[in-house]
Amino acid sequence: IRMILIGPPGAGKGTQAPKIKERFSCCHLATGDMLRSQVAKKTPLGREAKKIMDQGGLVSDDIVIGMIKEELDNNRECQGGFILDGFPRTVPQAEGLDAMLKERNKKLQHAVELQIDDALLVARITGRLVHPASGRSYHTMFHPPKEPMKDDVTGEPLIQRSDDTADALNKRLGTYHKQTAPVVAYYQKTGIWKGVDASQQPGQVWKNVLDILEGRD
Ligand code: AP5
Ligand code: ZN
Repeated sequence: IRMILIGPPGAGKGTQAPKIKERFSCCHLATGDMLRSQVAKKTPLGREAKKIMDQGGLVSDDIVIGMIKEELDNNRECQGGFILDGFPRTVPQAEGLDAMLKERNKKLQHAVELQIDDALLVARITGRLVHPASGRSYHTMFHPPKEPMKDDVTGEPLIQRSDDTADALNKRLGTYHKQTAPVVAYYQKTGIWKGVDASQQPGQVWKNVLDILEGRD
């Protein structure tokens, strides 16, 4: 499969993507997770990116396009296709992706938008807990881990993302509506766009996503 998942912070991209990966045996490329791993390693890019991420802005198009290109070329899991989570989030990134796929004689098959009102996102974001190494996310109320503050799979500690404050969320939402809404319009014109109501229970969102990917919608 070759698809993108698009939606505001907290819409459920990182919750749904691993299920798609498992179902279709493709790679899951999340630019936010890749950037956070650079931050954790304190690389020069990581130091620069952390400031931008904590302020709810966007890292430069060239950097994230380069990261995706690198994975598509070298990550063997991507031979079975890919699901992109959090990329593209500007029109130049969408054009960059088109160019990359064209060079490989491939086409994007699905652009799925997770649609949800901003008002529902504050609770999701401020209650989120993440396992940094895997990117797995939990929620204090909506999806609690089996043991408090521990990852279900590895038992390692869960943390809160430094950009998961109400204040940073407002900035991220502003950036989303300004820079990423035009990306939705970009895909609506191509005919591969579908929207899903992301305010539903995670299991129902998953069912709707799968119906789209398997052509039952
Ligand atoms: P990124 O990591 O992509 O963050 P984001 O887009 O803000 O999205 P989130 O990860 O916050 O939300 P999600 O949709 O994955 O939600 P989740 O499933 O975890 O990017 C971070 C930053 O990196 C950006 O701000 C930017 O600075 C930079 N960056 C990244 N990509 C870039 C790019 N391409 N270009 C430039 N800069 C880039 O769910 C959230 C919570 O809700 C969880 O606790 C979950 O358990 C819960 N939940 C999920 N679904 C449901 C449901 N249906 N009902 C109830 N609760 C639910
Ligand atoms: Zn995410």
